[in-house]
Amino acid sequence: MNSFKVKFLPHNKEIIVADGRILIRAAMDAGVHINASCGGEGVCGKCRVLLEEGELEGGISEKLSQEDVDNGYRLACKSKVRSDVVIRIPTESAIDTKVLAFQSTPRKTAHIRKMDFEKLKKDGLFSPPVEKIYLELSEPDTQDHLPDVTRLVSFLQLNHNEHRLVVDMKVIRKIPDIFREADFKVTVTLMRPVQEGRRTHIINIHPGDTTDRNYGIAIDIGTTTIYGQLIDLISGETISQYGEFNDQISYGEDVISRIVYAEKPGGLEKLQKVVTGSINKVINKIVTKAKIDKDYISTITLAGNTTMTQLMLNVNTKYIRRAPYVPAASIYPPIRASDLGIDLGEQVAALVYPQVSSYVGGDIVSGVMGSGMYRTDKLTLFMDIGTNAEIVIGNKEWMACAACSAGPAFEGGGIEFGMRAAKGAIEDFSIDPVSYEPMNITIGNVRPRGICGSGLIIMIATMFEMGLINNMGKFDRDIDTQRIRERNGVYEYVLAWKDDAGIDRDIVITEIDIENFIRAKGAIYSGCQTLLGEVGMSMADIEQIYLAGGFGSYVDLEKAIVIGLLPEIEHEKIIFIGNGSLMGAKMAVLTNRVRKDVVNVTRSMTNFELSETISYMDNYMAALFLPHTDMVQFPKLKARMEARIKERKRING
Ligand code: FES
Repeated sequence: MNSFKVKFLPHNKEIIVADGRILIRAAMDAGVHINASCGGEGVCGKCRVLLEEGELEGGISEKLSQEDVDNGYRLACKSKVRSDVVIRIPTESAIDTKVLAFQSTPRKTAHIRKMDFEKLKKDGLFSPPVEKIYLELSEPDTQDHLPDVTRLVSFLQLNHNEHRLVVDMKVIRKIPDIFREADFKVTVTLMRPVQEGRRTHIINIHPGDTTDRNYGIAIDIGTTTIYGQLIDLISGETISQYGEFNDQISYGEDVISRIVYAEKPGGLEKLQKVVTGSINKVINKIVTKAKIDKDYISTITLAGNTTMTQLMLNVNTKYIRRAPYVPAASIYPPIRASDLGIDLGEQVAALVYPQVSSYVGGDIVSGVMGSGMYRTDKLTLFMDIGTNAEIVIGNKEWMACAACSAGPAFEGGGIEFGMRAAKGAIEDFSIDPVSYEPMNITIGNVRPRGICGSGLIIMIATMFEMGLINNMGKFDRDIDTQRIRERNGVYEYVLAWKDDAGIDRDIVITEIDIENFIRAKGAIYSGCQTLLGEVGMSMADIEQIYLAGGFGSYVDLEKAIVIGLLPEIEHEKIIFIGNGSLMGAKMAVLTNRVRKDVVNVTRSMTNFELSETISYMDNYMAALFLPHTDMVQFPKLKARMEARIKERKRING
């Protein structure tokens, strides 16, 4: 794809963007503010810019007069970059060259790490638990009366050095016919044991040579969504994948309401059937997409939080939400997938990821395994922020973990106009440092309907850096803008006036929203501090951060540091691993070593109940500020803020 240079004046900022990038997004990428109230729908007319050189597609609107258009004005939210361009932000956007220093920093998201399959091979970790061997056996005759199964086992012992074999009963039932149909030329599927010293099972048999067809499935059982991948165990490639809502949603959005439902008569059995039904939808989709025969699937790994895991296994979840909050088990034995109601052949054993505690489940253990955190020397902070927030700190020597009671603020919960990351959610934001007018960019470039988690982080960080709110999240009452107002005794900032909004009200962010958000980020930061404190370390010791979950893909790292959610660490050391739960489930399909290690890793993860840890409350109270009461922990931000204050004083004379 072509890419083009966009130069913004009078800022003199340049950025390279892909062909067709919407101009207003290019400005946001470059950290250049353009007034934009309607989210990019082309309604407010505030985002007019002057095209000085080059070519833009679109951007001509009734919001612009013919004279404007003739003079080169365009709406930035409706213009696509089609060549190198020079764009001037008009002076009515209140850009004063003296205050350019106050413009936002360009957006920085975490470096994405996908599973490095080549490295896996190099490290000797590619060893699927399932193996297929093609055999050409001798046929019985008058001199050779060996029973079929003995014939098979002896051949494997003699020619393949397989001495500790068990032939599963369902395979014994198939053997006589298949041997004769296939002239004693067959392929057997072997399942290696997880623990040393245990036996290898022969779990399936096919006529002829089918060694080129060997598959496994990885499933992430999320509270909201179930994701699945079909993996070719010969190449290690993911050949199809799919995500589907967890139909348990009809019985409650969060884990607590599911537990409550499961306590009703027949509730547990109902939820078990519903979740396996959703898993089956995913499996059938990925199998159909890949056009393979299910009989060649030999293994499945499932990872989910503690509640999802127990519900899938039909294990009572009642005590998960009652003090002292203990799960039913940590490690589950392998179980036949079909016994759970999973729509796969009898040969398929299901490996279910173990869990550490009621609120640090198999999804987190899976993320730790998938990310390779358990094999690294570096002190690593692993964070999975979604509906809940779980953290793990440590390295290959030790690990401490905890669930933080952050609440759903990062998904828009507890915020008056908060919403999930869907069409109309403000996902990017900046503020004019002089007029305090907003630049709202929404998902889908439509009129704003609310604010999603990423928008919220950017918004609060930007308001703090621009001096609209203080370190307690309170608006500066002296700022001269209509957008800051008092309503029902609460101060708020109007993000979009009713006329520019996608709903029939002004969209605002209030001090109460900001307070709730600060509590959520404070719970996570102080959770990390508490875990580190328990082992005599501090945030400054962290060498790398792994971000898992949807949150990690969109979070603006610099802004997350500004609000004090992430510690001040070089951006290159923050790595986004995506769906950690699915990644770990895939790892367990690809390498038996992970299956062997997972038991020890789970046992080595020390769980902390933060509310019962003495230092937690002090840490939490100290974290209820932007970014924190202790600015020593944020030296770069402190220096930047001081420079800004100085600059502002200089400008104001
Ligand atoms: S018209 Fe472009 S953002 Fe409103």
